[in-house]
Amino acid sequence: MAEATATLSPAPRTCVQAMKEYHPPLGNRDALRLDFNENTLACSPKVREVLAQISAGALTRYPERGPVEATVAAHLGLAAKQVALTNGVDEAIHVLFETFLESGDELLLPVPTYTMYEVYASATDARAVTIQAADDLAFPFERLLAAITPRTKIIAIANPNSPSGSIATRAQLLELARRASHAVLFVDEAYFHFHGETVLDLVGVLPNLVVARTFSKAYGLAGLRLGILAGPVELMRWVRRVLSPYSVNAIALACLPAALEDKAYLDRYVMEVLAARGEFEGALDAAKVRCWPSRANFILVEIGPQHAEFVRLMREAGVLVRDRSNDPGCDGRVRITIGTREQMQNAAIALHEALAALRARNERR
Ligand SMILES: Cc1ncc(COP(=O)(O)O)c(C=O)c1O
Repeated sequence: MAEATATLSPAPRTCVQAMKEYHPPLGNRDALRLDFNENTLACSPKVREVLAQISAGALTRYPERGPVEATVAAHLGLAAKQVALTNGVDEAIHVLFETFLESGDELLLPVPTYTMYEVYASATDARAVTIQAADDLAFPFERLLAAITPRTKIIAIANPNSPSGSIATRAQLLELARRASHAVLFVDEAYFHFHGETVLDLVGVLPNLVVARTFSKAYGLAGLRLGILAGPVELMRWVRRVLSPYSVNAIALACLPAALEDKAYLDRYVMEVLAARGEFEGALDAAKVRCWPSRANFILVEIGPQHAEFVRLMREAGVLVRDRSNDPGCDGRVRITIGTREQMQNAAIALHEALAALRARNERR
């Protein structure tokens, strides 16, 4: 009987069978969280006021996203039809890929980059074509241009990129949109606030540009799961067919306008992170640790073969950092989120001690 059940087990799609498992280390994070590029403090107090006022009755209703979408669109200087709210940028990526990628299509991906692009691409029948950055991890613009084919359907670019912190310039993005006019140019601006440059103003101007933003990073709302996808009306109407009308929850929708309005809070947090990043770069320099120039709220550092041990020692010291050794071209590299100056001073002490412990261990060998 058991045998018959086993042979009848339904098979998932072939591409799903080939998918790799992905388990980000989200457990046991009661420490200084410099591992997921979140806001390391809190969201705006205005958001907390809204949260405190949410009634049980409000939770009995299905969420209505339309009015909040209109608010967000107005805030961004776009038309409501050009903007969709999503359950984090993750859902935006998933839905965009499901909308456009089919068998025979190619997704162009400069790597290393945000892991979920490849995860969601591998759940489609399209082929991901990766373009490896050189050792400086700079945006591989020329090689990306050269990789465009008639089969290219989406080019996905995180700007700034993770885990490198490197950027693509506006001129480079414009050129890509022009040269791949038959494809969607997807620019993920999750770390926009720390960089300050955007192509959002070109949404609707360029017929193939789609831009994402998140509330998970600078706004400090990763737990609410809120993202924005913005693109020309002609493309967004297809995206909306795939996007669940229910995926952004009522609590997130209630909080979003307050988060947008409190620009002063956002600006203060961003300024603090930028100051802390400068100081932390100085500390890395003093410790002779190689790092890559970053325009985001994190920095990639070279630790070498003892990367896993380094991450463990940092955790023991109460500082969580993220081993990126499995990312293409990132062997021995660790990504460290930038928090406040005080947090980064503590992180720098932990880093010095971890490196000293590794050195002492090597000398004993
Ligand atoms: C480039 C990039 N895009 C998107 C995300 C995820 O954003 P969200 O929390 O809105 O799903 C991340 C998170 O690390 C990221 O690095």
